[in-house]
Amino acid sequence: MTKVLVATEKPFAKVAADQIRSIFEQAGYRCDFLEKYTDKNELLKAVADAEALIIRSDKITEEVLNAAPKLKIVVRAGAGYDNVDLAAATAHDVVVMNTPGQNSNAVAELVFGMMVYQARNHYNGTSGTELKGKKLGIHAYGNVGKNVARIARGFGMEVVAYDPFVPDSAIEADGVTVVKDRDELYSSCDYISLHIPATKETIQSINYDLLSKMKQGATLVNTARKEVIHEEDLLKFFRDNDTLQYISDIAPDNQAQLEAEFPARCFFTPKKMGAQTAEANINAGIAAANQIISFFEEGITRFKVN
Ligand code: 3PG
Repeated sequence: MTKVLVATEKPFAKVAADQIRSIFEQAGYRCDFLEKYTDKNELLKAVADAEALIIRSDKITEEVLNAAPKLKIVVRAGAGYDNVDLAAATAHDVVVMNTPGQNSNAVAELVFGMMVYQARNHYNGTSGTELKGKKLGIHAYGNVGKNVARIARGFGMEVVAYDPFVPDSAIEADGVTVVKDRDELYSSCDYISLHIPATKETIQSINYDLLSKMKQGATLVNTARKEVIHEEDLLKFFRDNDTLQYISDIAPDNQAQLEAEFPARCFFTPKKMGAQTAEANINAGIAAANQIISFFEEGITRFKVN
């Protein structure tokens, strides 16, 4: 019997976990769960006899792969796979997939939850501002960016986007204006929403130089990855400029310092919450389960990323 392990330090909603279990049971697979683990050794032990793995932001390193001699496939139930050592997986003959688009609406909705919270001064009773009429710049127009654009229209925002990897026509088809370079995006918008993956090109790319292009009073929203921010530059820029606001679903390493010095100008969720909805968990979890079954039964490798 093929053994699947669902290893989620941040567990899926119960309704999603139940559906994943039932899909595997119906297919005649065994499905175990390792949830809320706090020690890497728990993961190393649990993967020992796993042939397939479903994960979220859980780190799949060479060490984990070495501890999983039977492993054939890892599916990251979500979009970003920077938590998986792809080269090591390939060297171990392990296929890695993601489930693009399945949790993107949840992340996009959180962008607006955080923007409203910030615009209304953390609900502290003082007079805030509205999103209507403000200009929103979407940095990278993938599945989340597209959903952000759709929701922004409902708020009455003007939406522009920068993404050199997406054809202009695809962005314009959504009624979004294409901006040709990053500097123009950063200098012209009241809100910038980041949707870039963490790659060697993007890590620490949001640096002092780029931040200094932003409009007075503008807000940077990060539901992507903390690694794309140059955190030292961010702190320095906060100190040099007294209007930039930074709200993020992935707290920076210097969170305590930022919050102590600039409590009104930043906000961080206590844990990465973007994809943490029942719907996103169901969509991504079911997609992951089905991808594993079609891989074993039919050799289908759609959404392979290595
Ligand atoms: C993703 O890449 O899909 C999102 O960042 C969500 O990550 P999570 O599954 O760890 O919440």
